[in-house]
Amino acid sequence: MATENIPQRITELRAILEEYNYNYYVLSQPVVSDIEFDMLMKELEKLEAENPGFFDPNSPTQRVGSDLNKEFEQVRHQYPMLSLSNSYSEEELRDFDQKIRKLTDQKFEYVCELKYDGTSISLRYKNGMLNKAITRGDGTFGDDVTANVRTIKSIPLKLKRTDFPEEFEIRGEILLPFAEFERINQEREEEGEALFANPRNAASGTLKSQKSSVVAERKLDAYFYFLLGENLPDDGHLENLQAAKSWGFKISPDTEKCANIDEVIAFIRKWNLKRFDLPVATDGIVIKVNSLNLQQYLGSTAKSPRWAIAYKYKAEQAATTLLSVSYQVGRTGAVTPVANLEPVLLAGTTVKRASLHNADIIKNLDLHLGDTVYVEKGGEIIPKITGVDASSRHPMASPVVFIKNCPECETALIRNEGEAAHYCPNEDGCPPQIKGKMEHFIGRKAMNIDGLGTETIDLLYSEGLIRNIADLYDLQKEQISRLERLGDKSAERILKSLDESRMVPFEKVLFALGIRFVGETVAKILTNRLINIETIEAASLEELTAIDEIGGRIAESVRAYFSNPKNVQLIERLKEKGLQMQIDEASLANRSDKLSGLSIIISGTFEKNSRDDLKKMIEQNGGKNVSSISKNTNYLLAGSNIGPSKLEKAEKLNIPIISEDDFLKMID
Ligand code: IVH
Repeated sequence: MATENIPQRITELRAILEEYNYNYYVLSQPVVSDIEFDMLMKELEKLEAENPGFFDPNSPTQRVGSDLNKEFEQVRHQYPMLSLSNSYSEEELRDFDQKIRKLTDQKFEYVCELKYDGTSISLRYKNGMLNKAITRGDGTFGDDVTANVRTIKSIPLKLKRTDFPEEFEIRGEILLPFAEFERINQEREEEGEALFANPRNAASGTLKSQKSSVVAERKLDAYFYFLLGENLPDDGHLENLQAAKSWGFKISPDTEKCANIDEVIAFIRKWNLKRFDLPVATDGIVIKVNSLNLQQYLGSTAKSPRWAIAYKYKAEQAATTLLSVSYQVGRTGAVTPVANLEPVLLAGTTVKRASLHNADIIKNLDLHLGDTVYVEKGGEIIPKITGVDASSRHPMASPVVFIKNCPECETALIRNEGEAAHYCPNEDGCPPQIKGKMEHFIGRKAMNIDGLGTETIDLLYSEGLIRNIADLYDLQKEQISRLERLGDKSAERILKSLDESRMVPFEKVLFALGIRFVGETVAKILTNRLINIETIEAASLEELTAIDEIGGRIAESVRAYFSNPKNVQLIERLKEKGLQMQIDEASLANRSDKLSGLSIIISGTFEKNSRDDLKKMIEQNGGKNVSSISKNTNYLLAGSNIGPSKLEKAEKLNIPIISEDDFLKMID
């Protein structure tokens, strides 16, 4: 490209990509394919890397975040972030309306909005560009989370049109949609991390993450409901929100004007159940006086405005009868009690089961069979039992006693000290554990076996054709094709995919084995460090915990796995079948210990290699990637556009700053 065309193309690409983002994340109406989007993004990334002079923090390329550690700076809110007074009944709402009418004779309208249950954020825009994003904090000071907020794709970094005030603030709620919440918790469970209690905690936890790359991966969303500033377009709150919508903000489509309190109450009734159909959590309705003039006249108390009130829905509760408790055994052997209930209508759906989580919960509820129990739908999708009506209990009712033996294989259950869950230790003889392990093994992120699914695994298992993951590789075409609903075609597909899985890289194979606490990330770290299965098998607790990021719990689980002779045998068989049990030749050839003992921090953008590739090179050469500068850091590998504060800190601590070329020379 001719040099003079470069800035033009960069501007053009930024505008196109932002528009595509807007269509996808704000309007939920994608206009191009993912591939097309990715290609344009790659083109922009390349141009920006080659022309660092055109760096712009608001470029769509900057939405990927970084994993640099940073303390959040405390920033004073330009306008304090007040909270809302709450109400729980229609009567309280009528009181609220009366109070306002006592203060004014003026005719006015209300605006009703959904009360989104996430974490609040205040954004400052200057000349149409996102300038700062601040959390609520204590209402006066909040945390500067701009770097994290930049990664949220439905938040505009650059506004559309030109009719916005030069400076303004907009406030809204950052949310984690239910589907994404479930996905993250599932991933955390696999990695042995603590689960988020509900989408709200997950959203606020994510927003406060020290790594903006983590924020970028989790698909946060945001709705905006409050515009503040000197020169707002209109006297109407709703009219201002509509203007904000035209500038690119995501505004709830469910906001409505109401002429009086009766209409407000009708709105509240309408959303009582309908809100459960939304992809995000809501816990009430916010009622606001529409006119800003009147808002100002009514004013605020120290804590909350007089012109607005929240109506909180009571958590939907229903009473029903506990019929029985059944127990489910998962892939890892964890036993989960589930309450079977007399079907009851709750928040628009019929509930027949509720999770009881573990033995402690049953004990604390003092649950008896036949009890009248209260079920509630909280932020979580699966309802829970929140209480028991002991007064109506039959005197002869028998208490629910947690089972002593596995419901599937009769083995005595164990409970490790400090853990809430009971486990069935019969790892290789308990059907749901065996099947669960196989399902995990064939999964997309593991061996990715096409054509095999839960049902086929079930069939193959009940026909006695497979007892462990290695047996999969002994399957013959006729054995599969004669199974119900399968035929020659499916059998061929399964065998072909199994055959191809011999090429699946070692890190995925290690993950696929389903060792407790060895999720995708841990598997990557272990394979990178220890190179082959033999070294991992032979590694002692000390050797394992000496690896950065491998803690005692993971190390113990790895040791336990390999001290079971059956597992060692299984791995021998998988080796014979030709699965990858060491890292590939190319990675092996690139390995050295040239950076052994060195801690390196990467910052900025680079010309020859991506940051991820550079990080990989550091690890392959025995070095350690660190995410924050300290006196223990040996080098700062600096690209272009590196932040001045980081440079300053490195200089202050006398940490040598090296370029990409210096680095490549070091490892060559
Ligand atoms: S208006 C001064 N509108 O609820 C008025 N808040 O309890 C400021 N919230 O901190 C808030 N949905 O995090 C407003 N449509 C909505 C809302 C909303 C959720 C949250 C917000 C606020 C809290 C107040």
